[in-house]
Amino acid sequence: MGLALAAIMKGYKLICVLADKQSKEKMDILRAVGAEVHVCPTNVEPDDPRSYYSTSKRLSEEIPNSWYVNQYDNPSNCKAHYQSTGPEIWKQTEGKVTHFVVGVGTGGTISGVGTYLKLQNPNVKIWGGIDTYGSVFKKYHETGIFDENEIHSYVTEGIGEDILPLNVRFEVIDGFTKVTDKDAAVYTRRLAKEEGMFLGNSAGAAIKGLKQIHKEHGFTKDDVVVILFHDHGSRYVGKFFNDEWMMEKGYINQDGSYPEDDK
Ligand SMILES: Cc1ncc(COP(=O)(O)O)c(C=O)c1O
Repeated sequence: MGLALAAIMKGYKLICVLADKQSKEKMDILRAVGAEVHVCPTNVEPDDPRSYYSTSKRLSEEIPNSWYVNQYDNPSNCKAHYQSTGPEIWKQTEGKVTHFVVGVGTGGTISGVGTYLKLQNPNVKIWGGIDTYGSVFKKYHETGIFDENEIHSYVTEGIGEDILPLNVRFEVIDGFTKVTDKDAAVYTRRLAKEEGMFLGNSAGAAIKGLKQIHKEHGFTKDDVVVILFHDHGSRYVGKFFNDEWMMEKGYINQDGSYPEDDK
């Protein structure tokens, strides 16, 4: 969205390449602000020519005078969070932040914020690598093994990966926790209904991940825990905020109640 708005101001053409698991609203909103949207299959290997990774790279090579954003490996992604989000959190907590929790996709947010906060205070814990089942991050962080057997498609949008983006700086992350698709979906709904926070699906994963971290490590009353939510709920009204879709997936019961948490 940011690039689409900048492209309008600069007079550039923006081509966005998305996987077909992304919500329809995201595609429609990008088209509404003038972007050309290419939709690629989710269920293919990253180096398959049909994948959104390969397609975006190919288009940038084929189209003269084009520039490949490459959000996964472009260091400007992490740098933007180092220069803006990190200092914002430090300033707003008056340097009292003790823990940072956030979902990890490209890694730009966690790595930029984590690097900045640890430079201010090396005791700050970056526990919030919130990951998904189907993604390689947690195991790679804990063992150094990139386990292809872990890779499968999943519903949660925005976090987890089947590649190791250069923007994930594993050395600044203290721990990952994995949240199931069902729990992420349920907590996306609960944030809206119980807290009045109408947020995206990765926010649901993040808040459930925070609960899991608390269960595992236990926060004290003096801890200042910052959690970052990446987007708002209006991009998900056809999925996580739609009862029929939620019931079809088995994420809510027929009477509208929530199933037990997975973890
Ligand atoms: C909705 C949503 N949540 C979480 C993330 C993960 O953030 P990052 O890519 O900085 O790791 C993204 C990334 O684009 C996202 O779109």
